[in-house]
Amino acid sequence: MAKYLVQKKAPLYGEVEISGSKNAVLPLMAAALLAGESCEIMSVPNLRDVEVMCALLKSLGAVVVENYEKNQISIATPADVAHEAPYELVKKMRASVLVMGPLLAKTGKARVPLPGGCAIGARPINLHLKGFQALGATVEKQHGFIEVSAAKLKGADVYLDFPSVGATENIMMAAVLAEGTSVIENVAQEPEIVDLANFLNKMGAKIKGAGTDTIKIEGVKSLKSCKHNVIPDRIETGTFMVAAAVTRGNVLIKNALPNHVKPVIAKLRECGVIIEFDDENILVRADERPLISTDIKTLPYPGFPTDMQPQFMALLTTVKGSAVVMETVFENRFMHVAELNQMGAGIQTEGRYALLQGERLLQGARVIATDLRAGAALVLAGLVAEGTTEISEVYHIERGYANLVDKLRNLGASISLSTNP
Ligand code: UD1
Repeated sequence: MAKYLVQKKAPLYGEVEISGSKNAVLPLMAAALLAGESCEIMSVPNLRDVEVMCALLKSLGAVVVENYEKNQISIATPADVAHEAPYELVKKMRASVLVMGPLLAKTGKARVPLPGGCAIGARPINLHLKGFQALGATVEKQHGFIEVSAAKLKGADVYLDFPSVGATENIMMAAVLAEGTSVIENVAQEPEIVDLANFLNKMGAKIKGAGTDTIKIEGVKSLKSCKHNVIPDRIETGTFMVAAAVTRGNVLIKNALPNHVKPVIAKLRECGVIIEFDDENILVRADERPLISTDIKTLPYPGFPTDMQPQFMALLTTVKGSAVVMETVFENRFMHVAELNQMGAGIQTEGRYALLQGERLLQGARVIATDLRAGAALVLAGLVAEGTTEISEVYHIERGYANLVDKLRNLGASISLSTNP
């Protein structure tokens, strides 16, 4: 089993280039199923989740050509694409459910195993299904599978009880080929939704309002191929910003869109970190003055991202003052707390709240990456802990961070991948 060995060294210093967004590229790849011809996606990050999505598309009959050296993928989907997603792949990656919308729209049917819960919560897909039903699909659950089917999808009004990212994406991808107009309200406003709408519009879809709380879609008869560059990963960006802060370093983050990380910029500034930016570079300086605490409340975009909550906790354990962290998006996203406490963080949790005391002297320990962002938080804690931090189950981290070890080492960190048992 691969592990990361992390040791405290000098503050991080230098430049780092951000890769394409994991959460943007996965729905784009699913959306490529809708085209008649080959779609080309550029700035694709080299990640395990991308490999799983490639395997899933291939299992459905798509011809996928992966060129990770050039960060490009092309996806061509035959007219007779299959409609059932294999259990082994859906089990590996929850985002596999994103093929439901495109398959339903293209073939009139989609069958996927029930994705089940994961480390951070129950994660149901009831809102995805509610949208498909509104568009005229029938939903059946049997033998651990969900099957959605419709002879012809019809445009409809859909209201989401919560602005779910995945539900917004899945319903959009189904509605683009529906007959007539769909209006989806209380949708997610994440940049990844805008990227997907831009991609679909390049393919010939008619989507308006992405990035606001209401999306309007005029159905079209068919979609064509297109070329598209994935947006930079805002969570990887935020993670490197916090890595600079936790080590009291000075790091220039390139290929980063400051507009997508406004809450992270605001919260780091509240902590006393100096941040300057232009259109696509962010300079993070935590070497100038002592850092202080701030409270965090996670919210759907444009609020503070739940995907940055664990990493921020690692930082808050090291600064002056106490902090309250409130998690409102997922019901069980404090798995990293037990691991950080192993390292001496002394965090207390009660329901959706965590109480942190600052200025803890973290100690290296054997810890487990329980999920992707929890794993990132442990890496950040390891960068400032005395002794060696040994992080196991790092495949979670590799699902979502491209070349994390190399990128951190280039900034002067002591981190290595160990495959010894
Ligand atoms: C996406 C991101 C993930 C991020 C999350 C929230 C991808 C591949 N993943 O996940 O990194 O942490 O957004 O920003 O883009 N919910 C329901 N019913 C549904 C759907 C969701 O109750 O049908 C609930 C979930 O249980 C959760 C909340 O809504 O509590 C947010 O989930 P959602 O926005 O759907 O997250 P994902 O799309 O799964």
